[in-house]
Amino acid sequence: MSRLVYVLNGPNLNLLGKRQPHIYGHETLADVEANCRRVASELRLEIRCHQSNREYGIIDCIHEAREIAAGIVINPAAFTHTSVAILDALNTFEPPVIEVHISNVHKREEFRHHSYVSLRADGVIAGLGTQGYQLALRRLAHLLDRAAAK
Ligand code: DQA
Repeated sequence: MSRLVYVLNGPNLNLLGKRQPHIYGHETLADVEANCRRVASELRLEIRCHQSNREYGIIDCIHEAREIAAGIVINPAAFTHTSVAILDALNTFEPPVIEVHISNVHKREEFRHHSYVSLRADGVIAGLGTQGYQLALRRLAHLLDRAAAK
């Protein structure tokens, strides 16, 4: 059984560490991805990380994941609140999906309170900083272990 997980990040997250650090912290996306790789190897997961500022970039990755992946961790960033197209793409993906937000979107502007992606996600993590990605990977590994034990 595949233990390949896609870790997808949406627009402006390439600027992590430089962008509003009082909200998103000082870690760069490269730091976040390195931490994900470390945790993934501990959990015996294989991961592929991808960031795009373009909606179709995220959708193409979801389509690629459809063929081969056992799970997706996704921070769709601003597309969370706008993208029916990303929701539709995730609805074509059967294995578990965990939505991650670095900040607590519910504590912020009202337009951030609604997520299209949450209509599909099996779990949502918000406000735990960049640690949310590692916790999402732990959850996916747990779900995969549980499915394999059946
Ligand atoms: C975010 C929250 C979104 O509202 C925002 O547009 C982002 C990042 C987060 O990780 O907290 O770009 O997804």
